[in-house]
Formats: sequence, structure tokens, C-alpha cells
Amino acid sequence: MDQKFKVGIIGATGMVGQRFITLLADHPWFDIAVLAASARSAGKTYEEALGGRWVMTSPLPEKVKSMVVYDAVADLKKIADAVDFVFCAVDMKKDEIKALEEAYAKAECPVVSNNSANRFTPDVPMVIPELNSDHIRVIEAQKARLGTKRGFIAVKSNCSLQSYVPALYPLDAKFGVKDVLVCTYQAISGAGKTFERWPEMIDNVIPYIGGEEEKSEKEPLKIWGKMENGAIVPADSPKFTAQCLRVPVSDGHMAAVFVRFENKPTKEEILDVWKSFSGRPQELELPHAPKQFLHYFEEDNMPQTKLNRELEGGMAVSIGRLREDTQYDYKFVCLSHNTLRGAAGGGVLLAELLCAEGYITPKNKLS
Ligand SMILES: NC(=O)c1ccc[n+]([C@@H]2O[C@H](COP(=O)([O-])OP(=O)(O)OC[C@H]3O[C@@H](n4cnc5c(N)ncnc54)[C@H](OP(=O)(O)O)[C@@H]3O)[C@@H](O)[C@H]2O)c1
Repeated sequence: MDQKFKVGIIGATGMVGQRFITLLADHPWFDIAVLAASARSAGKTYEEALGGRWVMTSPLPEKVKSMVVYDAVADLKKIADAVDFVFCAVDMKKDEIKALEEAYAKAECPVVSNNSANRFTPDVPMVIPELNSDHIRVIEAQKARLGTKRGFIAVKSNCSLQSYVPALYPLDAKFGVKDVLVCTYQAISGAGKTFERWPEMIDNVIPYIGGEEEKSEKEPLKIWGKMENGAIVPADSPKFTAQCLRVPVSDGHMAAVFVRFENKPTKEEILDVWKSFSGRPQELELPHAPKQFLHYFEEDNMPQTKLNRELEGGMAVSIGRLREDTQYDYKFVCLSHNTLRGAAGGGVLLAELLCAEGYITPKNKLS
């Protein structure tokens, strides 16, 4: 890139917002220009607004400490004018988020969102960049609906499925995936929490995460969807069934997967597909693209959350324990970092893709 993009982080004080700060502090293409959160934080310096909530293991970057936090709602126009695009990760009601994201888009400010509110808006692409990067073409139809020149919304999918969908997608292309049963074991940072703020999770498992099983079953079908008449039409297969459990882990979602194929491959054929798989981010050599997206571990006791979640900067997916099953064809486990690949890192990679493909341009480059 010959010019840096000015970015805003909406929800900068939250768990995902803090991840954005760490990922963007030294980004080769992006400069943090605006931080925004709720009216509670607005007007304070970022350090004051955090008030001890910084939970990243790396120190709070000097350059953001004294930045004054904006009100994401009241200062929308000012923010939209000051940046080339925003990342959005906020804890608000779904209809409020939908309205907020659309208001930024209509103010000609592209939105790269981590929220679920717009995931099923038909002309909003929901993208895992290695899998369905072609879905970003639907943005033209969205801009026509919104009546914008450069404003639009693009979203990333829920964090739970970023472990197992990448493993299944390339297998489906070759062997046809029919049925998938998945159990996820999800970290507490997925709820924006730490053990300090959620002591009930120590030595505990909670067998319920509101809305997560529906998302884990439904969102993959949009990833598998096809673009038709200015919309992404979700696929009707593979069929997914999911159970999602909250486990006492700080970061990293694991999934136990059972899969049935149209044409059952050999174990070697599956391993070959995973080993050779790469997507558009690798082709474009995007800054946050992992070199090897899917890593297979031969050892019986791998991957492990604590050992492998940070693989390739937390942007790769770890897979292990592939073996035949008595009821399905195969079973295996997958692991991905929920606030890196599953949230902020996935958002940054999507923004890199949108910039590299010309959907986001620096404003002063516009005619
Ligand atoms: N954590 C994950 O692993 C993960 C993964 C994928 C997606 N997500 C999604 O990302 C979003 C944020 O999650 P999180 O875990 O970062 O939540 P969080 O830690 O609770 O942070 C929420 C953020 O939203 C801001 N906010 C709350 N009310 C607001 C309002 N009325 N106007 C503007 N900003 C407001 C908060 O600002 P104040 O500090 O001023 O209150 C804070 O910055 C959610 O939609 C979540 O579903 C999270």
C-alpha cells in the first residue's frame, strides 16, 4: 500500500476492541485515528475510560493512552468524516447495532463488523477470507440499496464456527460433506469476560451459551451460500447440529467434529486437502494471513488450547485426532483463537482483503 488508511475502532474499550488496538498498533496499512465507545467512556482519555479494564497480555500501547474517546452514537458524523473506515464490536441491542452500522455506512464510512446484527442481511457479505472471499462482490448491490458511494457493511462470522468450518469447507468441495455434528468448548473471553470478572467459571462448565447453537448451525450455510440477484442465498447443505459449552479457559475455542461425506475419502486424502489448502489472503500475501491456514497435528494429545491457540499469531486453525468413527465417517478436533481469528484478527484480515481488492480506498484518493 502506498498510503495508510485511517481507521476508527467502535467499541474500543471492550474485549474485542482491545484486541483491535493490539493488532493495529503497528499495522503496516492501518493507522488508528479514532477510538469510540458508549457515552460512559466519551470525553475521557482511553486510559481513563478503560479504568483498569485492559486485559491484554501486551502493555497498553503508548500512542492510544491519551487519545480522547468519542461517543460512537452522538459523534457518528465527526467519526465518519475523520476515518477511511471503522471496525465495530459493541455490546448493544441487535436493532441498535443494525441501525448504528447502517448509519455509518450511509455516512459513507465502510464498517467491518464483529457483531451479529447484520450477519443475515442478504446483501451484507459474511466472510472468512480464505473460504468465501468472492462474496464481497455483493457489496455493489448493498451500496445501490443504501444509496452510497463508498459506505457499506461487511461482517465476519461468529467465533465458534471459525474452528470447524475452515476444516470442512475444502473437504466439501472435493468429497461433498453431508452431515456434521459438532460440540464446541468455548473460552470465557468469548463472553467478553476474564476469570476475575467471572469467578463462577473457575472449576466449572456451563452447558449453555445463549444463541450460540443456532449461530453455529445456521451461519455456516451463509458462508457456503451463492450470490444471486444482489444477495447471498444460503446453501441448504451440509446439515449441521451443534452443542456449545462454556469451559474454564481464558482464550481459544475447541470443537469436536463428526462428519459424514457423499463420497467417503481416505484419511490420507483428507490430510492432503488440509495441507494444500490456501485462499485469497495467502495469494494476496495480506499482512495478517497465516502462511499455513490449516495445521494438522499427528500427536494424539494435540492440539491443546494453551499450547496452540497463538499459532501463526492466532490466525491459523489447528486440527488433530482425525480417525474413523462408528456412526459417522470420521471424527476430529479443531481449535482456533476466539478473539484473534474468531474476532478482531478475523476483522483485520477481512479489512485487509477489502482494501487489497479495492472496496475500501483512502478518501483522498477518491475523485
Ligand atoms: N469476545 C469475543 O470473542 C467475540 C467474538 C466474536 C464477536 N464478538 C462480538 O463483538 C461485540 C463486542 O464483544 P466484546 O466481547 O468486545 O464486548 P465487551 O467487552 O462487553 O465490550 C463492549 C463494547 O461496547 C461498547 N458499548 C456498550 N454500549 C454502547 C453504546 N450504547 N454505544 C456505543 N458503544 C457501546 C462498550 O463501551 P463502554 O466501555 O463505554 O461501555 C465496549 O467498548 C459483540 O457484539 C460480540 O458478540 C465477540
